[in-house]
Amino acid sequence: MIGDKIIHFDTINSTNIFLKEHWKDLPSETVVWADKQTGGYGRMKRQWIADRGGLWFSVLFKPTNIRPYNPWHYVRLYSLAIHDILKDKYKLETVIKWPNDLLVNEKKICGILGEAVFTGVTPSAIIVGVGLNVNNKIPEELKDIATSYIEEKNKKLHLEKLLKQINSHAYYKYYLKYFKRDKISAFTKQWIKKLNIRNGDFIKIIFQNEEKRGKIISIHGDYLEVEFESGIEKVYAGEVSLRKERVV
Ligand code: BTN
Repeated sequence: MIGDKIIHFDTINSTNIFLKEHWKDLPSETVVWADKQTGGYGRMKRQWIADRGGLWFSVLFKPTNIRPYNPWHYVRLYSLAIHDILKDKYKLETVIKWPNDLLVNEKKICGILGEAVFTGVTPSAIIVGVGLNVNNKIPEELKDIATSYIEEKNKKLHLEKLLKQINSHAYYKYYLKYFKRDKISAFTKQWIKKLNIRNGDFIKIIFQNEEKRGKIISIHGDYLEVEFESGIEKVYAGEVSLRKERVV
């Protein structure tokens, strides 16, 4: 099961980098967890501050021919599992911001980064990196956009227990049941239901510093179909930042 093997570090550059360097020697579903990262990074290679108190870990998947190959599914596995655990065990409601951040009152509490290692046409390894703000205080300059469990609930959580709860839930609730070629679309539907966007919502897309406003026509596994003034386009998750527009 996920996390049967957990490798723990006090300090490391990045748990994702560790798995990118060692995936060949490790079994699928290995978890690498660090108390502190000195070179943590997020989507679009942005710096990810990972001081003590947060839950910083990465999970290795080596998809075989029965499991789906698309890295997005593995990223969503963690959006859903963390969403459920925070709600059911720790009474904290989050929403999943497309494609995969978790927000509390529009502030980010968790970011998830999926990376794939290719040796052939399909990925040989998929690495899911999770950054969950738990007992770490948020620096003053980030307080408008980020939060942590302790900021919200004024309570500390036991990080190892939380890590195990997340992985066990991801495994038993979703991975065992849905991570098969013929079941994965049912999983995608559950993820879409928990997203913070719906068909018909107005959104602002930021792509290479350019802003565009449009209306969501439909939500798919890894892209949105959006109606812009210039016509309908597909917007792929890896390429853009997305803001929901307030309708006045
Ligand atoms: C994002 O929101 O851009 C994703 C952030 C992912 C951060 C985590 S922390 C553990 C793992 N190691 C990293 O260097 N990044 C991910």
